Amino acid sequence: MKERIHTKFKELFGDGGRIFASAGRINLIGEHTDYNGGYVFPGAIDKGIMAEIKPNGKDKVRAFSLDYNAECVFGLNEEDKPEELWARYIFGVCRETIKRGGTVKGFDCVFAGDVPLGAGLSSSAALESCFAFAINELYQNGIDKFELAKIGQSTEHNYCGVKCGIMDQFASLFGKKDHLILLNTKTLEHKYYPFNPVGYKLVLIDSKVKHELASSAYNKRRASCENAAKAISKNHPEVEFLSDAKRIWLEEVKGQIPAEDFLRAQYVIGEMQRVLDVCDALERGDYETVGEMMYQTHFGLSHLYEVSCEELDFLNKLARKMDVCGSRVMGGGFGGCTINLVKDELYQPFIDAAKKEYAAKFGHEPMVYDVVVSDGAREIK
Ligand code: GLA
Repeated sequence: MKERIHTKFKELFGDGGRIFASAGRINLIGEHTDYNGGYVFPGAIDKGIMAEIKPNGKDKVRAFSLDYNAECVFGLNEEDKPEELWARYIFGVCRETIKRGGTVKGFDCVFAGDVPLGAGLSSSAALESCFAFAINELYQNGIDKFELAKIGQSTEHNYCGVKCGIMDQFASLFGKKDHLILLNTKTLEHKYYPFNPVGYKLVLIDSKVKHELASSAYNKRRASCENAAKAISKNHPEVEFLSDAKRIWLEEVKGQIPAEDFLRAQYVIGEMQRVLDVCDALERGDYETVGEMMYQTHFGLSHLYEVSCEELDFLNKLARKMDVCGSRVMGGGFGGCTINLVKDELYQPFIDAAKKEYAAKFGHEPMVYDVVVSDGAREIK
C-alpha cells in the first residue's frame, strides 16, 4: 500500500511528502455504550488508512483517493464542503481543527485503505484519525490525542450526519499492539489490557450485508437512550447519561417513556455491567465467561436494541451450535461482522462451516478476517 501511495503521490505532486497511518478497530465488548457515558473495550487492528501528505502553499486541499481513483479539490472555509463523502471526512477534520484554533493550510495528499468498507471496522474513523493526526504533526498544532479523537467524532456529527460516540476514533488513535483498551467514555480514563488469549483466536466473520439507513437508525437509538436518561434524571438528578442509572431507576419510569426506549435502555444498562464482568474474567484468564458475555451482548443487540439482522443472527446461532466460546455482532450493527472467540482446535471447522452454511442459506460466502491487534495513528518514517 505504501509503495502504491508513494508512486501516485510522486506522479501528481512530486517529492517531499510525509506518510501517516491510522487503524480500524475491533471491540471485544461494550457496544452502543460510548454515547451513553459507559465503558468500551476496543483495540486497533492491522487494517487501516495510509496517507502521504505535503503542504502546497495554497489555500486549497487537493486530495486523491487511490481506492476510488478520484481527486477532489476543496477550500477550507465552511461553504467549501465537498459533495463526495470520502472527501467530506478530510474536510471535516480540517474544519474541526480550525474551530479548535489549529492551523490548517492547503495541502496535497494521496491516501488508500485496506479496512473492508461497511464491515463495522470503522474505516471512517481510521480516515479521520489519520488526517487529524497528520495535520496536527504537519502544522505543529500541539493538539493532544484526546482532542484529536474528538475532532474525528465531531467530523462525523457535523459533516457526515452520524451522532457517534468516541470509541472508534479513540481506538484508532490510542491503539497499541497486542493490547485492548478499557475506556471510560465519560472521563476518557483508560487502561491497556494485554490481549493474548492462549489457546483461542479472535476471528471476524463479515456477513457482507450493509443495510441502508444505518446512520439514521443509529441516531434514533441514541435519541432513545437520551430520552430514557432524561426521564430517569427527573427522579435522580445525578443521572446525566444512561451509564449513571441503576436498573431499578429505569423500572421507575417504565410507564413514562415509549416501550421502545425502555428496551434500548435496558440493553445499555445490562451491557455496562457485562463490560466490567469481562474485565474481571480477563484478569482471571477465564475466557469461557468472556465468551458467555459476548453471547449475552448479542442477544441484547438483537432483541432489545434491534441492531442485528437475519444474517448476523444466523452466524451467531451457528457459532453457538458449534460450541464456539463467544460470538456477537460487532460495531454499530445493521450488517457488518460478528466477532468470535474461538478455541484453536475449533477455528478451522468453524470457519469452514460458516462459509458453507452461510452460502447455502444466503447465496454468497461471508468473508473471514483474523484479528491482529496493532498500533494506532503514527507517522511512517
Ligand atoms: C459505531 C460508532 C461508535 C459506537 C459503535 C457501537 O461504530 O461509531 O461510536 O457507538 O457504533 O458501539
